[in-house]
Amino acid sequence: MTSGSNSGDICNGIFRDGLLGKTPPYPTNIHDLEALAKEQLPPELYAYVADGAGNNTTLRDDRRAFGRWKIIPRMMRDITTRDHSIELFNDHLKAPILLAPIACQDAVHPEGEVAVARAAAAVGVPMVLSTVSGKSMEEVGDTPRWFQLYWPKDNAVTKSFLQRAEDAGYSALVVTIDTKSTGWRESDIAHAYLPHLRQKGIGNFLSDPVIRAALDEAPEDNFRAACAHIFAVHRDLTQEWDDLAFLRDNTNLPIVLKGILHPDDAREAVAQGMDGIIVSTHGGRQVDGSIAALDALPPIVEAVGDKMPVLFDSGIRHGADIMKAIALGARAVLLGRPYIWGLAVGGEDGVRQVLEFLLADYDINMAQSGLTTTAQLGPDILRRADE
Ligand SMILES: Cc1cc2nc3c(=O)[nH]c(=O)nc-3n(C[C@H](O)[C@H](O)[C@H](O)COP(=O)(O)O)c2cc1C
Repeated sequence: MTSGSNSGDICNGIFRDGLLGKTPPYPTNIHDLEALAKEQLPPELYAYVADGAGNNTTLRDDRRAFGRWKIIPRMMRDITTRDHSIELFNDHLKAPILLAPIACQDAVHPEGEVAVARAAAAVGVPMVLSTVSGKSMEEVGDTPRWFQLYWPKDNAVTKSFLQRAEDAGYSALVVTIDTKSTGWRESDIAHAYLPHLRQKGIGNFLSDPVIRAALDEAPEDNFRAACAHIFAVHRDLTQEWDDLAFLRDNTNLPIVLKGILHPDDAREAVAQGMDGIIVSTHGGRQVDGSIAALDALPPIVEAVGDKMPVLFDSGIRHGADIMKAIALGARAVLLGRPYIWGLAVGGEDGVRQVLEFLLADYDINMAQSGLTTTAQLGPDILRRADE
């Protein structure tokens, strides 16, 4: 990425269009984008995406934690040529950004995950596809992508998911370990709303040969029975650290554990031979009152050292947030809710605008801070606001 491409081109294009009376099709500011999505989505669906667990304390704290760190820009450096790319497992990323796995995108837009994958491919940002995807993992193609596993109770189903992900060309496996069951999400309870019961987010299950073989009738003929079976097998409350050996033995993909907040759990992930971890509060949707993800990051990075990459999500909204998370030791970040707001208001185009603008914001904020590569980000560029 150089100043002559991406962010420069985006800005030039926007200002040129402005002379013709044209402004960007969707709100530029992420909060305005969310407000527009709120107007357009049914209230229960907006709340499903927007809200967190309990009193939304962690959801708010995740954002506040970013405010405690301030960037100290440096001046008088040559910033002509910029390259923010990183290598991560088998992938070359043009910037240290991936799309977080988000369930039930088919509820938000008819094209759901397929539209997101197209936008991700156009911009060059890998996507992590949720287990709870409207489309099957085979239908979501044409972009570098990882598969996120909610680890089923039935080993045969797990094996099937792992094999399908490899066969379909996914390049890493993200195993979400913070969601053995769903958090106490007051909005969803108030609306009595669970998208899966309305046939959303079940593409991977309905298309799975092992699940289909276990049903007396095809899901198309008896959706209720299929749903009951899916609910019976889709999660397991008993899994413990040593059980990860089963996944290790059944996939050749790098395994990344998502949802780590304690340094000892990070050390355990290393001990179990995992390939990476994601520090995350699941967007404040699991444990209300838990530590903010950004506050959890530095001690985890210290505990892990250079033994595996530490990724980060929960609260990324702007380029500055990406800089802060990387400076505190994350190798890359995952973008969550913002791209869903883009999907809600503009489908593939909406997601593309969100991603292009985020990349441009990151590039320009880096340049204005005197930084030309992601590798230059370290704790020295930050100061705590309360110090
Ligand atoms: C509506 C919604 C659905 C989600 N579904 C999943 C999922 O299926 N699997 C998963 O690992 N994480 C899921 N997450 C968590 C995200 O991957 C990510 O951790 C979170 O969105 C980060 O918080 P942020 O969006 O506030 O930045 C979901 C989050 C939201 C908002």
